[in-house]
Amino acid sequence: TSRNQDEMKRAVAQAALDEIRAQLARDTVIGVGTGSTANYFIDLLGDYRHHFDGAVASSEESAERLRRNGIAVLDLNSVGPLPLYIDGADEIDQGFAMIKGGGAALTREKIVAACSERFICIADRTKRVPRLGTFPLPVEVIPMARSHVARQTVQLGFDPVYREGVLTDNGNQILDLHSRMIEDPAAMETRLNDITGVVTNGLFAHRGADILLLGTETGVERHLR
Ligand code: A5P
Repeated sequence: TSRNQDEMKRAVAQAALDEIRAQLARDTVIGVGTGSTANYFIDLLGDYRHHFDGAVASSEESAERLRRNGIAVLDLNSVGPLPLYIDGADEIDQGFAMIKGGGAALTREKIVAACSERFICIADRTKRVPRLGTFPLPVEVIPMARSHVARQTVQLGFDPVYREGVLTDNGNQILDLHSRMIEDPAAMETRLNDITGVVTNGLFAHRGADILLLGTETGVERHLR
């Protein structure tokens, strides 16, 4: 990523912190995502570690980074629904549907998002697209079903590519679906989930973002769904 893009990521992370600061209180637990933009957020959040209880992480990588910043990492099963989830995206469309999972954390991201009242997406402007699908759509699969799932996605018009050498935090594999624009993200999300052997797909349409903080060259834009 360019220097410019890194600056935009840092600026949206700061904007997210400004957005949620008033909500950080004793017994507040927040959900935290994965990726380079989320990493900026985690590092800024470290200064506020004494203001709230802790975080649920969407990946082992983020959990480790949270702990390094002195933030307690909690088990999702030991906390109630979360007020907030802050995470990046690989693509986000006009209706706030997203493609996620470039960092292979899609399953835990979708679980934490499902448990959260508000999803705040932090992204630089390169992520905003008129239509999803230029970024290859990640699908987490049970390893023994990989070829089966790949064949089924070919039927849907995709070009599946096995992300070799990658194992998810859940011990599964990733197929990246290339070469197809997604006209109806919610329908495609359901369609892919129906394939036996699919654990999760990277379309976040049924549960999209609620707030988008978008980094641009001239500042951070705040968009509501
Ligand atoms: C992780 O699995 C993804 O869903 C991330 O949210 C996505 O890859 C965004 O990462 P960056 O902030 O590094 O672009």
